[in-house]
Amino acid sequence: MGLTAAGLATAFVVGRWWGSQTLKKLVSEKNQALAEKDREIAELNRRVRERVPDPPASPDGLPPESVQVWLKPIAPADSELTGLQGRVPTLVIANLKGGVAKTMVAANLSAYFSKRANYRRTAHLLNKRVLLIDLDYQGSVSGMIMTATGAVPEHPNCQVKTLFDPAFSDDDVLNYRVRLAGALPALSLYPATYGFDDLETREQFRWLAGQTGDDVRLRLLKRLRSPAFRSQFDLVIIDTGPRLTTGSVAALTAATHLLIPTSASRRDTEAAERFMRRVSVLKRSGLCPNLKLVGVLTTLTKGSASGVALAESARGSIQAAVANDPDLGVLIEAPAVVLHAELPQSLPIVNEAEQGLPYLASTSSRTIFNKIGAEIEQRMS
Ligand SMILES: Nc1ncnc2c1ncn2[C@@H]1O[C@H](COP(=O)(O)OP(=O)(O)O)[C@@H](O)[C@H]1O
Ligand SMILES: [Mg+2]
Repeated sequence: MGLTAAGLATAFVVGRWWGSQTLKKLVSEKNQALAEKDREIAELNRRVRERVPDPPASPDGLPPESVQVWLKPIAPADSELTGLQGRVPTLVIANLKGGVAKTMVAANLSAYFSKRANYRRTAHLLNKRVLLIDLDYQGSVSGMIMTATGAVPEHPNCQVKTLFDPAFSDDDVLNYRVRLAGALPALSLYPATYGFDDLETREQFRWLAGQTGDDVRLRLLKRLRSPAFRSQFDLVIIDTGPRLTTGSVAALTAATHLLIPTSASRRDTEAAERFMRRVSVLKRSGLCPNLKLVGVLTTLTKGSASGVALAESARGSIQAAVANDPDLGVLIEAPAVVLHAELPQSLPIVNEAEQGLPYLASTSSRTIFNKIGAEIEQRMS
């Protein structure tokens, strides 16, 4: 009996000792793994710091933080890609401000240009084959255009993210475009979907950590310059979201022309000027040396006396900002920065956009976008 008790006690002590040793071993292994992860993070941080140069001083004395991460110099092997040789005219519609009708303008201009043959007949502009690229993960322009034409993506790869995936050949990606038959037979689309924002963030971080093996900023440019794409399109139009993401930076890099829609409120015109400064920094860094500002388009303008005065003051402010700042002057050749045409605030346009595309819905909407389109076309040619 005494022996059994002693045996049990010994077994208990040995068991506890063994248990604590196992626990110690586990904790030590976990600590080692954590230390290893800490070392990996420190190394990644060191590589990011090494690759992100100090930003150039901006005219307002503030470093443009949202731009800094994108300023890494282009590799010498890639530098000829940014030239104008072999580029399809590419119009990016952008502004870091949301709600200024970028998407409305992109959707209706793509209809204007792709139906150009039916408007004022100009031999070299007949039958424009237009590619619309939706780089806003919310997919608003895709929704508007697909509702208007009844088109649906025929394959899961019929998405804008395919354009950014180097695993696909140019010919394959071209086949994954959505062809919009019906009312807009000359228009093709790469629609955006939720999840594109995750891809943008992932690719940005992989690129900063030197893990992509290529320059993510140039992926779209490489696609559009490829013989496959060049042979299919006469004009590319790109709608962007209101942030400097992988998609919008790639769009500014791939574009030959930039249109900045802005509402006439003081806050929005200031935002447009701030955005122009950002673009100017990107341009002067060598990322998009040939990008031209087509102009600033005033949107959501009101016909009332105070609305007209506000629009007039916005024009003056933007014009003066560009005239007085040599850094902004590099963006544009035209003496008038702000387009004469404008997009008025209009309830019918909003209602028509609910059902599809204002450009296809009514003569009055078509007249508005014809005017905007004609002025852009003239400035681009
Ligand atoms: N001409 C217009 N008149 C009135 N509302 C408009 C007009 N154009 C666009 N809108 C509305 O303004 C909001 C922002 O337009 P949107 O094109 O989505 O802007 P962004 O792409 O810059 O965020 C939307 O609700 C849209 O319906
Ligand atoms: Mg939008």
